Amino acid sequence: MDSIRIQGGIALQGKVRIQGSKNASLPVLAATLLVGESSFIRNCPRIADVHSMVSLLKSLGCSVRWQERGISVDSSQVRRGEMPREAVTGMRSSLCLLGALIGRCSEVVMEHPGGCVIGERPIDLHLYALSQMGVEFTEDAGSLKAEASGLHGAYICLPFPSVGATENVILAGVMAEGDTVLEGAAREPEVLTLCRFLCECGAYIEGAGSGRLVIHGGRRLFGTDFTVPSDRIVAGTYLFGCIGAGGCVFLEQAPKEEMAAVMETAGRMGGRVCTSPEGIYVQAPERPSPVRIVTEPYPGFPTDLQSVVLAAETLGRGCSYIEEGIFENRFRILEDLDRMGASVCQRDARRVTVRGVEALRGACVTARELRGGAALVVAGLMAEGETFVSGCRFIYRGYENIGRDFRELGARVTSV
Ligand code: EPZ
Repeated sequence: MDSIRIQGGIALQGKVRIQGSKNASLPVLAATLLVGESSFIRNCPRIADVHSMVSLLKSLGCSVRWQERGISVDSSQVRRGEMPREAVTGMRSSLCLLGALIGRCSEVVMEHPGGCVIGERPIDLHLYALSQMGVEFTEDAGSLKAEASGLHGAYICLPFPSVGATENVILAGVMAEGDTVLEGAAREPEVLTLCRFLCECGAYIEGAGSGRLVIHGGRRLFGTDFTVPSDRIVAGTYLFGCIGAGGCVFLEQAPKEEMAAVMETAGRMGGRVCTSPEGIYVQAPERPSPVRIVTEPYPGFPTDLQSVVLAAETLGRGCSYIEEGIFENRFRILEDLDRMGASVCQRDARRVTVRGVEALRGACVTARELRGGAALVVAGLMAEGETFVSGCRFIYRGYENIGRDFRELGARVTSV
């Protein structure tokens, strides 16, 4: 079933449990390659990207098993560093296997992960940083080959806090000879989670969560039992979904300590947001207040929630300004919102203004990428009448079951 049918115009009520984090699970699963024995990773979401990562680990020689509460990974038999072409193309997060495999095998061959609809997604920062550690890269007909016989520590300065490049340096650094200092590191919570996992396996990493990391290499790593935190982007999707559709909801297990900018923005939109040890409670305003948002690296407002705030503000009380500071093509839902009656003006590739209208009308719309697709579901909840969202395979890459979750919040949503 690749489509979702929504009867909109119903305020959300109730509580929903937030799934495990996609962007924390993927690098942690990649890091199990460095352990060389069994690990158990709890709270991994059952989403397409995690299934793809599991297939990749199996193709490299790992024994991987889904169990009720998590995934067991035994990487003791990993011998080869070549990833099958079909498993890598189209899944950018396979890139974090590069850093892990470099730490484990002296030679790695992988398909160039390539770009996607939200941007060209270059990997120059990954190649620059790993080259400083002694990795030699050659590209041949779309394949990337890395040779790392003499992996060593280095002093690396990232000109941009790339999440993936930071993760790759950490994964290679724990296995390198000597220490690696990384300035300009990404501070996203997923980087902190990766450092926590590796330290629980026996690594020694200083500065986790800050922009300066010191990774002490060459230590033996051991398997561990680790729990991945909940997904801050899924929680934010449902939080802004409530702000746009109305009502009040409780987001159980939402990682509130990772969501300061998100909750602050929801407050500026007129939402009443409060937290408890169990999660986040949000009550929607009559209509969202207009806001000015610029997406930034963490702890700024996350780019992955830009589309859903844009959708919520289509019924706002005024004119909002949204600037995409991370990706060059992340306004992929404007045509669909226009078809639903929204009033959005694109200033240039990185800036839009959205003027609130009295009502959205249901329409047939198409998801073209993960977070834009989720935002179209939110727009459908807000619209009068029926909305049909196709292309939901993109949404299932990051959301276990967005229809089920919104049904638990009282929405009339069916997968078809
Ligand atoms: C991670 O992607 C996330 N993906 C993305 O989430 C998220 O949007 C992004 O970080 C920013 O927070 C995963 O964690 C699996 P980056 P990543 O390297 O690592 C440029 C989602 O919806 N750049 O921080 O690829 C790049 O083009 C996904 O869950 C270079 O120029 O992000 C982009 O403009 C979407 N050269 C910016 O940096 C490089 O070598 C951010 O990229 C690498 C990146």
